[in-house]
Amino acid sequence: MAYFLGLDVSTTSSKALLIDQNGKVLGMESSAHTLSSPKPLWSEQDPAQWWQAVVQSIRNVILQTGISSSEIEAIGLTGQMHGLILLDAEGEVLRPAILWNDQRCQAQCDEIHQRVGKERFIQISGNVALTGFTAPKILWVAENEPGIYSRARHVLLPKDYIRYKLTGEFAMDKADGSGTVLFDLKARDWSKELLEALNIPREWMPPTYEGPEITGYVSESAAALTGLERGTPVVAGGGDQAAGAVGVGAVEPGIIGLTVGTSGVIFATTPAPLVEPQGRLHAFCHALPDRWHFMGVMLSAAGSLQWYRDTLAPGVSFDELLREAETVPAGSEGLLFLPYLSGERTPHPDPLARGAFIGLTLRHTRSHMTRAVLEGVAFGLKDSFNLIRDTGLDSVSQVRASGGGTKGALWRQVLADVLESELVSVNTAEGGAFGAALLAGVGRGAWPDVVTACHDTIQITGKTDPNPDTFEVYRHAYQIYRQLYPLLKSTFTQLI
Ligand code: XUL
Repeated sequence: MAYFLGLDVSTTSSKALLIDQNGKVLGMESSAHTLSSPKPLWSEQDPAQWWQAVVQSIRNVILQTGISSSEIEAIGLTGQMHGLILLDAEGEVLRPAILWNDQRCQAQCDEIHQRVGKERFIQISGNVALTGFTAPKILWVAENEPGIYSRARHVLLPKDYIRYKLTGEFAMDKADGSGTVLFDLKARDWSKELLEALNIPREWMPPTYEGPEITGYVSESAAALTGLERGTPVVAGGGDQAAGAVGVGAVEPGIIGLTVGTSGVIFATTPAPLVEPQGRLHAFCHALPDRWHFMGVMLSAAGSLQWYRDTLAPGVSFDELLREAETVPAGSEGLLFLPYLSGERTPHPDPLARGAFIGLTLRHTRSHMTRAVLEGVAFGLKDSFNLIRDTGLDSVSQVRASGGGTKGALWRQVLADVLESELVSVNTAEGGAFGAALLAGVGRGAWPDVVTACHDTIQITGKTDPNPDTFEVYRHAYQIYRQLYPLLKSTFTQLI
């Protein structure tokens, strides 16, 4: 039997997941990270903590499954996208990583559009420059920490720092590479024009590889720390969204991935490097060759419910809150929630956007507020869903739902009703890590390609049909929801 290991460096933890050559999950171990926000809008993590957590998780999963590490044939990497790690000439970390949800660099986004021309920037990278992406973070360090910038020699993303620690190699996959927005999307590699316009040295950027390609081998020192076999191949893998899409089988046009984790994502595979002309959707490379994808990202999806519970109902279980919310009719009797608790990306790229409950009356209870949170997140995701539909992509044939927020029946039903679409669930729960393990398997020839790997290992396990009785009330509420951000935008900018 051959085994494959998927490693996922997420924002909250690092996970190690072991599968066999049939895609059966043998075990999963995780170790938590902490997040620091030293100033308003900042979000940082210490890369050393990721490495410690990865080492711990690998050791634990080997111990827990009892598999001999010599039977692990390959390793695949995935993790939070867009985070900036700068290393010096000796490979030492120069400052804490600036993460995907950091919102400090709007001025640098404006500057990028000015230097390159917004339209040209969209044409090349497929995207507008957003605070979440890597390119403006590099400019921020250049402008605000010139001492650090002058010592920088390597730019990496979170999982690629782990690759460096595991193999000693500097390398990146195409999916995560395109998420830096320094890629030529069509060429699936670094754009000379963009790097030159932004004065970023080409030699700082690592070589890039397709998801299943081997990028290096576990070194002697990493083997000693982790318990892995020296020389185990490490494939490129993919950023968490692309690898997560592989993990639920969203690798063909028409199959839409819907993820409700801390962030919320609508993901659609494209057969060519298509671009939304105004850059309202992200357009990145997929983790398999010759495929790209569109994506809409909501920054606080299940994160909104988490905040709501921790802040307004501490100590109450999610199950209890959701049971209460079930007693409230669709539309929450006129109460709306805006989920922009960390600013927003799609469809309102605005770091200063804020959350809100709109329409509170004496009649509303905690049950209404909980339901309004579920519905507000669903309305925000519908914005991305509609944008993807409007690109004229092949019709949506199936929506595959994953992530913690889709586990409960009520939120799944609300999503199906608001999107007016059937949602299916699949047998794989650990999207990103599972996708990374499949990419490792493809890299070692366990499957001829990624699409076959998905077909062989991923099955539909359930479906949620939309309830047409709710359509009218949700259409009405959504119309009002759509008006709120434009109405409140200037108010948000005044709330310092
Ligand atoms: C995707 C994005 C987030 C992070 C979360 O563009 O920023 O999904 O990758 O881990």
